[in-house]
Order: sequence, then structure tokens, then C-alpha cells
Amino acid sequence: MRNRLVVANWKMNGSLASNEAWIKEYATLTKSQDVEVAVCAPFVYLPQMRTQINEATLPIALGAENCSAYAVGAYTGEVSCSMLSDIGCQWVIVGHSERRQLFGETDQDVAKKVKLAMEAGLKPIVCVGETLEEQEAGNTVEVVCRQLNAVLDAVGASALAENGAIAYEPVWAIGTGKTATPQQAELVHAVLRDSVESRDSVAGKKIRILYGGSVKPSNASDLFACNDIDGGLIGGAALNPREFHAIVCVAQSLTETVI
Ligand code: 13P
Repeated sequence: MRNRLVVANWKMNGSLASNEAWIKEYATLTKSQDVEVAVCAPFVYLPQMRTQINEATLPIALGAENCSAYAVGAYTGEVSCSMLSDIGCQWVIVGHSERRQLFGETDQDVAKKVKLAMEAGLKPIVCVGETLEEQEAGNTVEVVCRQLNAVLDAVGASALAENGAIAYEPVWAIGTGKTATPQQAELVHAVLRDSVESRDSVAGKKIRILYGGSVKPSNASDLFACNDIDGGLIGGAALNPREFHAIVCVAQSLTETVI
């Protein structure tokens, strides 16, 4: 039984004041849950978030939204995986489509980052997903498998299953309000799981595959109820602590149903 995982990706949003307000409000909603929850915030706010999560004793792990593809040295403006680990991050999002599309990240860059993240003791969330054009051309499976295979070639299926997660985020569903139907998403998740399973059957069963793209409290239960969807990577809805908490509660209620 895979433990569900719900992750907030705040993207380039937040401020000292709004982050504090978010934590305070979230703390009034929950103190504990069985599902795993993480919040990925902009680099500069990570120390603040770590302190406030600890002070409020919230069951939230801290994550970054990106990391450098280099370990250390003369790379002005970069933030290394070991720095993220040093300041208390447990998770890092790698290969988000916004980084691939807007900042030119290649499959090889993503693979390098995932390897470094693991070496630094961080758990990478490897994002894959097709654009609208790729989907319309019928290339979804080819694209997401190519993206995933670059990472599996670099770190192996077992290591990723033990120490990371995959997120399927169709680019056409991100921030657009257009969610993949549960059937569409499940189909791709099953293909991704098969890819991992074909390399290592234990890893295939173990790896958590999150769905991301316009997840809201109203559509989370149908998505999370699918066999191969183990939680969500939440953008817009995660900026509001009540909405994010409602999504966590959906994952929690499905967990309780299974138990
Ligand atoms: P939205 O939930 O805003 O569509 O964003 C999804 C996403 O990109 C999470 O990484």
C-alpha cells in the first residue's frame, strides 16, 4: 500500500507576511494526518518556512522548487542540492514543465539534478508531461516515457522509488482550469508505472506517481481514487491554505477508506 503524498508548489508566489499567514491558518485546520504533505516554496523563504513549520509543529515537510545541476563552485545565482539539504529541505521538484519550457531545461539537465538531489539526501519529485501540441499529435506516451527514462537511466528505478516520486503534469492542464479526466490521467500514470516496473517490479509497485494540473478540492477525489494516482502536486489551489487542506483531507479520507 503506497502512502499518499500531497505537495504544494507555490511557484513564484508569497511574501514573508503571506507565508506566515498561510502557516497560521493551516495550523488552525490540522495537526496530524496519515498522508504525507510537503510544501515547496521559493528558495528565499525556505528558512522562514522551516522555522514556522517547526514552531507550529505541523506535519509538513519542506521542499524546494528547483535545484542546480552542479554540485558546487562558480555558478553565480545557482542553489545546490547540498545547500537545500543543509537548510532543512527534504523534497525538491525537478523538471517542472515551467523550467523545461521557460528556462530550457533538457531531459539530461533533469537527470543530473535528480542524481545530485539524491546524493545530497533530498527526495526529488520528477515532473513529466506533454504539451497540448504533443497531446494532439498523439505523442503523450512517447514524451512522458522519454522524460522519465532519462532519469531512470541516471539513477535507476529502485533508487527513485525508494527516495523520490514522479509527478505527471500535462502542460495543457497547468493553471488553465482544464484538468485531465481521471481516465486520461490514470492511463498515463499506468504507463509510467509500467515503465518503472519493466526495470524493477518492486520499484514499479512502490513508486508514488502524483497528478498535477488544476487539481482542486472538487476534482481531487475522482483523481486520487484512481489505482495509479498516489496524490497530487498542487499549484494555484495550494496558495490558499483552506483549499490545500481540503485536498489533503480528500487524500486522507481515501486512505482511511482503504484501511
Ligand atoms: P495548477 O494546480 O495551478 O494547475 O499548477 C499545477 C502545477 O504546475 C504544480 O506543479
